[in-house]
Amino acid sequence: MQYLNLRNTCLFIPAALAAALIASGALSASTDDGINLPANFQHNGYLANSMLVTKDPNKTGLKTGVHLIYVNPAGFGRLKLGGSEPYPDGTIFVDDVREFSVDDGAYQQGGHKFITVMVKDSKKYASTGGWGFQAWLGGDPAKPIVNDAAKQCFACHTPKSANDYVFSTYLQ
Ligand code: HEC
Repeated sequence: MQYLNLRNTCLFIPAALAAALIASGALSASTDDGINLPANFQHNGYLANSMLVTKDPNKTGLKTGVHLIYVNPAGFGRLKLGGSEPYPDGTIFVDDVREFSVDDGAYQQGGHKFITVMVKDSKKYASTGGWGFQAWLGGDPAKPIVNDAAKQCFACHTPKSANDYVFSTYLQ
């Protein structure tokens, strides 16, 4: 009995340490003073979740284009779980809004129109649901366009308060 208990303790410590290391890595990547365009997100550990095409202006007022939604590993567990728990600090969502063309019934994605980002830091962004919002015109890191996140972004995300202000849900 005693021997078994000891073994369990030994196994548990490395797992806890690993979890702590992963969490601190995720946090340091996303809590800069400003919000940075995540570098090379398509190929950098982010997981693609869903795609939405807004061909014509619709009643949501969403920008037209192909919306490709990505989440970083820090937020993936909560996305998959669903429910109403807040996302953990360090979560980053990216909505890569791209041009598209239609030719002979086939939709082809084109260049970036905007890259929009939501970064979770429940203290720093407490006034906008714990989320920092930024977007870059044409995906150019030199062209951020959000200077009033509450008006430009958060207001439209508030109907999703029961899902921590996130529209996306996990797709199998
Ligand atoms: C007109 C309403 C509206 C406005 C304004 C808006 N969003 Fe969204 N946003 C949405 C909808 C609807 C979705 C989900 C649809 C999609 O794009 O797949 C979404 C999705 C997102 C996502 C992916 C995570 C999620 O919630 O599913 C990010 C990141 C995002 N928006 C950032 C922003 C930023 C940054 C701004 C401000 C520049 C902004 N949004 C302004 C409606 C809006």
